[in-house]
Amino acid sequence: MKKLLLLFFLALLGGTAQAEYVIKFSHVVTPQTPKGKAAQYFADTVNQRLKGKVRVEVFPNSQLYNDNKVMEAMRLSSGKTGLMAAPSLSKFVKFSRQLQLFDLPFLFHDIGDVHKLVDSPIVEGMLDPLQRKGIKALGFWDNGMKVFSIRGDKPLRKTPDDFKGKKFRIQSSNVHAAMIEALGGTPQKLPFKEVYTALAQGVVDGQENAWSNIYSKKFYEVQDYISVSNHSYLGYLVVVSAHFWNSLPADIRDQLTAILKETSVKARQYAAEADQADRRKIEAAGKAKVVELTEAERAQWRAATAVVEDKFRDRIGADLLKKVHALLGH
Ligand code: LMR
Repeated sequence: MKKLLLLFFLALLGGTAQAEYVIKFSHVVTPQTPKGKAAQYFADTVNQRLKGKVRVEVFPNSQLYNDNKVMEAMRLSSGKTGLMAAPSLSKFVKFSRQLQLFDLPFLFHDIGDVHKLVDSPIVEGMLDPLQRKGIKALGFWDNGMKVFSIRGDKPLRKTPDDFKGKKFRIQSSNVHAAMIEALGGTPQKLPFKEVYTALAQGVVDGQENAWSNIYSKKFYEVQDYISVSNHSYLGYLVVVSAHFWNSLPADIRDQLTAILKETSVKARQYAAEADQADRRKIEAAGKAKVVELTEAERAQWRAATAVVEDKFRDRIGADLLKKVHALLGH
């Protein structure tokens, strides 16, 4: 009898951890960043509301996969364990030519512009190619506008002079590569988890990222200057294996969709908070000096990088670009 009771209690305890479906949420940033917080909010909400049916486990800091590998693993995954991730939009180059639009320099003046686009029906067409490649897109999460950091005796202000002879870490985006070249520097693609060491050891001189990544991964400790360029956007697409998603019972899918919608609203809030707070923390640390660009300097960067849109117009889609410019009004 005692043994039976014990087994019963163990089963009850185990019940909190057992679930019919498991979702592993893999990401590359720290739990304190906007994406880290959003992933955890999603996990906590699912684990509470869909207890026994679905359990979400979050793996931060590239513990499980880096962003390029996660997409391959996602396409191959099967069974009752699904893989989910929110790679930056720049990392979808192999899966959707249209999504490269998000990488264009100076296309979005601010986050408000990005929201105009992702809240419009225009994005649907940009996501179609993913589905055909086994990836289901579930929503957009913000990080923020990117700024440039550099090691050396002066900040990045003038193009091409201040970029000449300098190597910049970029994500796996050809648009970013073209942008760095247009600014006068040399691009080097590296996975996120290698950036700190590459900066610390001088493998690269600088990088571009949102404030929360520069803060949480301590890039500011191994850089001398940060130029507030806000030259382009860093944001994420939440994705899951289409095979896994389609195999879920419809009611579970609906509940997950509703929770994701709720999470995406939270993600915008986390991003807006981090953007201000992490910049202030970097300034307070007194390691990298933060410099504002003058209007004239920004105009010079914008003019120098205009060639990037010309170069990628056909790949991204001239019609799509026209529609987006019309939507944004510039
Ligand atoms: C990067 O590689 O710099 C970013 O995409 C990392 C991230 O996920 O924010």
